[in-house]
Amino acid sequence: MQIEVVHHPLVKHILTRLRDETTEPSQFRALARQLTLLLAIEATRDLPLREHTVQTPLEPTQGHSLAQPIVAVPILRAGLGMLEAITELFTEVRVGYIGLERDEQTAVARAYYCKLPPIGESRVLLLDPMLATGGSAAQAVEVLLKAGARDIVHICVVAAPEGVQLLNERFPQVKIVAASLDRGLNDRKFILPGLGDFGDRLYGTGAR
Ligand code: PRP
Ligand code: URA
Repeated sequence: MQIEVVHHPLVKHILTRLRDETTEPSQFRALARQLTLLLAIEATRDLPLREHTVQTPLEPTQGHSLAQPIVAVPILRAGLGMLEAITELFTEVRVGYIGLERDEQTAVARAYYCKLPPIGESRVLLLDPMLATGGSAAQAVEVLLKAGARDIVHICVVAAPEGVQLLNERFPQVKIVAASLDRGLNDRKFILPGLGDFGDRLYGTGAR
């Protein structure tokens, strides 16, 4: 199974607080942002650099700039909880949005919105915290490929083996970076142990 799980102690610490059912939405949002910062470092570890000279207050020296543009694409709505971390790290980032919602009975995602910037040679960071059946991520990847994307990294918080397998089989070129590879799905296609419905926990829309 092709997935990169980030094993940093801080990732495990933050993920555990996200899993905790007593974590309130305001704290959940802050933790989601912090965790995305750590995952984004891993997802961009291999970005190419351009060398150039920079003048320090004392003397010129050799420096570097990122040589590949970044496009971030959160899948609405839960992916929005990961966006601020990316725009903070990559100030020149262009942002697209793909709206997908799983049907509560069938767990099949329905597309309701799409707006993408020009992609060209950019590294596309596809943001969605939950990779469950993989249906949503697969639909989003199809849209990105049609838009010309050639370098896609899917950043998620928790992945299920079912979703990883689907993406690996259909899109072996898409790299997956996650904080955890969990055990599997329950009969409602929720990730176990997971952390529940990420969007509901982020925005306080779940049952109280
Ligand atoms: C959740 C999650 C993913 C999707 C994952 O979104 O954010 O997009 O489910 O499940 P899958 O891998 O089985 O497709 P949801 O459809 O609940 O919408 P929301 O983000 O608006 O809450
Ligand atoms: N979407 C979520 O938010 N959580 C899951 O466990 C599965 C899909």
